Amino acid sequence: MERRSRAVRHLCTLTLLLVCVCPLCCRASWMWLGVTSAGVPEKLGCSNLPLSHKQRDLCRKKPYLLPGIQDGAQLAIAECQSQFRYERWNCSTSQDTTVFGYELTSGTKETAFIYAVMAAGLVHAVTRSCSQGNMTECGCDGRLQGSGSAAEGWHWGGCSDHIQYGTWFSRKFIDNAAKNMSTTRGGYTLSTMNQHNTEVGRQAIHRTMSTHCRCHGVSGSCAVKTCWRTMAAFEHVGAYLKDRYEHSVQVSDRSRRKIRKKDQRGLPVDKQQLIFFNKSPNYCLEDQRRGIAGTRGRRCNRTSTGPDGCNLLCCGRGYNTHVVRNVQRCECKFVWCCYVRCRRCESMNDMHTCK
Ligand SMILES: *[C@@H]1O[C@H](CO)[C@@H](O)[C@H](O)[C@H]1NC(C)=O
Ligand SMILES: *[C@@H]1O[C@H](CO)[C@@H](O)[C@H](O)[C@H]1NC(C)=O
Ligand SMILES: *[C@@H]1O[C@H](CO)[C@@H](O)[C@H](O)[C@H]1NC(C)=O
Ligand SMILES: *[C@@H]1O[C@H](CO)[C@@H](O)[C@H](O)[C@H]1NC(C)=O
Repeated sequence: MERRSRAVRHLCTLTLLLVCVCPLCCRASWMWLGVTSAGVPEKLGCSNLPLSHKQRDLCRKKPYLLPGIQDGAQLAIAECQSQFRYERWNCSTSQDTTVFGYELTSGTKETAFIYAVMAAGLVHAVTRSCSQGNMTECGCDGRLQGSGSAAEGWHWGGCSDHIQYGTWFSRKFIDNAAKNMSTTRGGYTLSTMNQHNTEVGRQAIHRTMSTHCRCHGVSGSCAVKTCWRTMAAFEHVGAYLKDRYEHSVQVSDRSRRKIRKKDQRGLPVDKQQLIFFNKSPNYCLEDQRRGIAGTRGRRCNRTSTGPDGCNLLCCGRGYNTHVVRNVQRCECKFVWCCYVRCRRCESMNDMHTCK
């Protein structure tokens, strides 16, 4: 067992080294923690993880946050794949340290979504471990305790999620040294664009929080209520960010100022808007150089008019129809006593995949 885990560690270190040998193509990212197995980051240790210098220092100072960082990255990647499961770009990841490949640095709407959802995942996971009492540095939000409105019959109580710590940590961990951010559509760099979008992600946690209450009183009369603030389930945060993605705004890249339309440059950017530089490719055809998988072989829906419809998903190339046999348990009956007996039912369904 020990030997095997050592072998795994060597293999991982080797992979990381290979990817990072050449600094120009090294786009290794902490997001890799989201595609590796639980326990691997702890085994590798802070120095062997694909982290920036600053992140490595933070990792060494607070090694107990590593599981939270990994949880956050996994949560975010799963949510990205769920939000984009019916789209041409489906948020697929690879095991190497560039994770999202080309999309991590392409400066497109997809880059914007990735940065936002990853930052939000980190806030969510770290806040959850604060609320569960796993951390000495943070816990429930105590500022509300003891206040409320006696006249209206409610007070704050229980554990309100304390997102300030998670938000602070996410900023410290992800953002580069505080740069002056542009507030208009001119003059971004990839780094300030990413920084803007990660902040949109963190704000998404803040904006989707809600208040829950529990009733007390004689036979549930709700004469007195205890209320607390909680973060939304992460799928709501994902849906919120997906909407931001669909309404994202193009800004101009400072290094290529000349080719952008001048008249738009002075327009302000809302803090809640995701921003991007480059128009997205259509993601229709495989492009290995840019790490685009294309939609060949993707399952599509013949009757849907949405993005999963065969016409849109297959980019007009047409689709193949296969008949697939489904076996299900059916006609289940409760048999006295005590088990459930079912029959096996078979059905034949059409399945369509893009040509
Ligand atoms: C995305 O689509 C590709 C085919 O284009 C497929 O191989 C991959 O499994 C899909 N990824 C996810 C996360 O659904
Ligand atoms: C908190 O700690 C417990 C026990 O160690 C663990 O089972 C749980 O997953 C942790 N929660 C989070 C959110 O890290
Ligand atoms: C950011 O800009 C403000 C005013 O434009 C300036 O006072 C400040 O020093 C700048 N900060 C950095 C880190 O460049
Ligand atoms: C295909 O799309 C239609 C219309 O949107 C929907 O009613 C149906 O459930 C979808 N079928 C599958 C297999 O997802």
